[in-house]
Amino acid sequence: MGGGIWRRVRQWFVHELAVDLGTANTLIYGRGRGLLVREPSVVAINKYTGALVAAGSEALAMLGREPRDVVVRYPMRDGAVADEHLTALMLGAFLERAGVQGFGQRVHILVGVPSSATDVERMALQEIAQRAGADRVHLVEEGLAVALGLELPQRNGCAHMIVDIGGGTTGVSIVSAYGLIAARALGVAGNEMTDAILEYLQQERGLLVGRQVAEEVKLELASALPFVVAGRKRVGGKSTLTGELEEVEVTAEEVARAIERPIRIIVNAVRAVIEMAPPDVAADIHQFGIVLTGGGSLVRHLDARLREELRLPVARAERPLEAVLLGMARLLERPELRERFRTNSPSPAWAETTLSEDAAPSPVIPISAWTQERPRRRHAMRG
Ligand SMILES: Nc1ncnc2c1ncn2[C@@H]1O[C@H](COP(=O)(O)OP(=O)(O)OP(=O)(O)O)[C@@H](O)[C@H]1O
Ligand SMILES: [Mg+2]
Repeated sequence: MGGGIWRRVRQWFVHELAVDLGTANTLIYGRGRGLLVREPSVVAINKYTGALVAAGSEALAMLGREPRDVVVRYPMRDGAVADEHLTALMLGAFLERAGVQGFGQRVHILVGVPSSATDVERMALQEIAQRAGADRVHLVEEGLAVALGLELPQRNGCAHMIVDIGGGTTGVSIVSAYGLIAARALGVAGNEMTDAILEYLQQERGLLVGRQVAEEVKLELASALPFVVAGRKRVGGKSTLTGELEEVEVTAEEVARAIERPIRIIVNAVRAVIEMAPPDVAADIHQFGIVLTGGGSLVRHLDARLREELRLPVARAERPLEAVLLGMARLLERPELRERFRTNSPSPAWAETTLSEDAAPSPVIPISAWTQERPRRRHAMRG
């Protein structure tokens, strides 16, 4: 307390930011300031000059209807940087939105990395953050960040499993109070489900639709349990036969069948990680279960599906789209944890980073400032 003015002055000169640079969405949190940016990870670029036309939702709005001198791109793919130049442009635009202006300001950022990221990818991320305006960059394992945000591993040394189904990757991490025990990643996640719907509509219903339309169908109808779904939606597109505009009615059951393959791949990957785990870890997972997070975990009944197939407790994080950022926000607000969590070490499939066992949840984190909810108590494992 006290020093309120000093804090404001400091905030002007020193930006301490947490960045979740996802394949689908980018979120930025500012220490002491809350959630500053939440945008789709998309850029629109002038084809001829290479200049940035728009970033985020404005760029996404152009996707599928680009002016002819503009290309719209997702600079990240499968959780990794696909185009360094475009990623730096995009991040630069978002940092600007977060209030970073460059002159005389110091910018420290914490960037989440999927545990699958290679050393080269980690270095690339660091470089990009620097190019986008950061002068200090720390990388944080996303699985650990989620666990920290949920305060999962702080109470005991037991193993917990986090399954983060994002846009491009599904990350399966096993964490404890002492750090990351193991992590595996899979290039099948939410985008794959959208693609499956797109393909289904084209092949089975003879309808060509844009990606955004397929995405809407997914958000409205997708379910991981084909037999307990209801609902239908009229979908407009182009007939593959006549090329004319056409509308068809799609049922939730069809959509469930369409996304069955990616869902099955994800379920099997989780099962495989549990099967590979040493006995004590497997026993802990059976007891404490799995926490599902990431936007892809919002597919209806995915928790029930995993529960049924794996016979373990499964709970969905309360804010799956923000769980990584929430954990990183906690690290930002608590420098002593941050030091312990620095993960600039090379690809730790078996990491050495350690979580403090006695680290009590901090009362100073203004999580409520950006979640518009009271800070959560302990995460309820059983829903
Ligand atoms: N209600 C919903 N139902 C189903 N899927 C959803 C829902 N909301 C978001 N998604 C999907 O979640 C994905 C985005 O999730 P998220 O923002 O966690 O990914 P990301 O962090 O950008 O990607 P990654 O972690 O793979 O780099 C998208 O594929 C989106 O379609
Ligand atoms: Mg993510």
